[in-house]
Amino acid sequence: MYQDHLNRSAGSPVSTAPLAAPAPLRVGLLGLGTVGGGTLAVLLRNAELIAARAGRRIEVRRVAVRHLPRAAATLARLAGESASQQVQLTDDPQALISSPDVDVVVEVMGGTTLARTLVLQAIANGKHVVTANKALLAEHGSEIFAAAQARGVVVAYEGAVAVSIPIIKALREGLTANRVEWVAGIINGTTNFILSAMRERGLSFAAALVEAQALGYAEADPAFDVQGTDAAHKLTLLAANAFGVPPQFADVQAQGITALDAADVAFAERWGYRVKLLGIAKRMGGALELRVHPTLLPADHLLAQVHGSMNAVMVKSDAAGITLYYGAGAGAEQTGSAVIADLVDLARSASLPPVQRVPALGFQSGAVQAMPVLAADDVQSAFYVRLDLSRPDVTAPRVLQTLALAGVQVQRMEVLPHPADDAQPCLVLLIQPLALRDLRPALQAVEAWPEVLGFASVLRMESLN
Ligand code: HSE
Repeated sequence: MYQDHLNRSAGSPVSTAPLAAPAPLRVGLLGLGTVGGGTLAVLLRNAELIAARAGRRIEVRRVAVRHLPRAAATLARLAGESASQQVQLTDDPQALISSPDVDVVVEVMGGTTLARTLVLQAIANGKHVVTANKALLAEHGSEIFAAAQARGVVVAYEGAVAVSIPIIKALREGLTANRVEWVAGIINGTTNFILSAMRERGLSFAAALVEAQALGYAEADPAFDVQGTDAAHKLTLLAANAFGVPPQFADVQAQGITALDAADVAFAERWGYRVKLLGIAKRMGGALELRVHPTLLPADHLLAQVHGSMNAVMVKSDAAGITLYYGAGAGAEQTGSAVIADLVDLARSASLPPVQRVPALGFQSGAVQAMPVLAADDVQSAFYVRLDLSRPDVTAPRVLQTLALAGVQVQRMEVLPHPADDAQPCLVLLIQPLALRDLRPALQAVEAWPEVLGFASVLRMESLN
């Protein structure tokens, strides 16, 4: 418009020739499973709207899969018989990543072996990459981002973290002015679904997991979900964008929900807390805390209100203060939404010089620097502790005395019947914040007493305010 206005005022003739349609962004999809199918479905359904936003069409030209017949059926279902014939379906991913009619490779096949090889080769071939593969980037991100930078292409990954929530964009663009203090969130839909189903519907862990798998929330290997590995992958990427560190997955302390005892969930509820699997990345002076574990939160905390497969991420930063992001944490189109957001960014910015694009981790690569990560023993927090006792009348006061002598301050203590066995008394304690290293010896001493049955159940507590 601006140019047109100048031309008119200069008295130049106005061209009435129609403008050539901008070239589409041509996509090659590696994988047509849950996420690939969801991405394709949304791309097709909202093609006009997406083009209006992106400034050009985004077209899937090629799809590479392992099982051709199943993928052909999926394509025909999503795109219709005739349109699906314009998409080249192959079982040769090499052909896709080297194809001259592909500008961007969307990696939604999962895994870290073949996916790593193909992504690196695609980059070497000068293709941009969009991926929802958190394991790949958490474990091989430094190598992949460095290769992309050297080749001048983009690697984008909004769908890798908390799927539908644009948290990578929020951290690296919306909060770009801020010094982040901490990021904490419910970043695994499967475990939140399981914890909610156990609490609200009384389902067993196993039954709730089967439901989560049937709904397509769980990873191909659900151990990644329930052992906290998937959340650790996502936390790695959140921390990188929050603190300007490279992906430091090996430093994340991850504990899942497999050992979580229903009795502790019940005691927590009784005292006004809710147990959530949280990922927490926190700056502590010159070091970081990177941890995933079941956590007691006050029941009225906003994160405690996040149910089912929903995710939420809370960020505390110096200028914006606390901000909160909520949305679906798993699902086909929910992840597709994030993958397409990256494609639209790319459609708009692919022709820009790399220095004008948003850096992969939100910081210019020269400013990205690893930070030391605190060992679990050095991380301070409040604690919930449960001890099963045979003689609570005698033992409970001794426990208190032993903890006091060790400098451990007890905020609350009660002897309560075990929720599943009235005859079993439990000593339940809330401990004031301290490092695990300072709590452990006192607990070990107490555990050795014959009237203390088994080991103490210990969970961290957070107030996140
Ligand atoms: N298995 C993952 C989850 C899928 O449950 O959160 C989304 O990353």
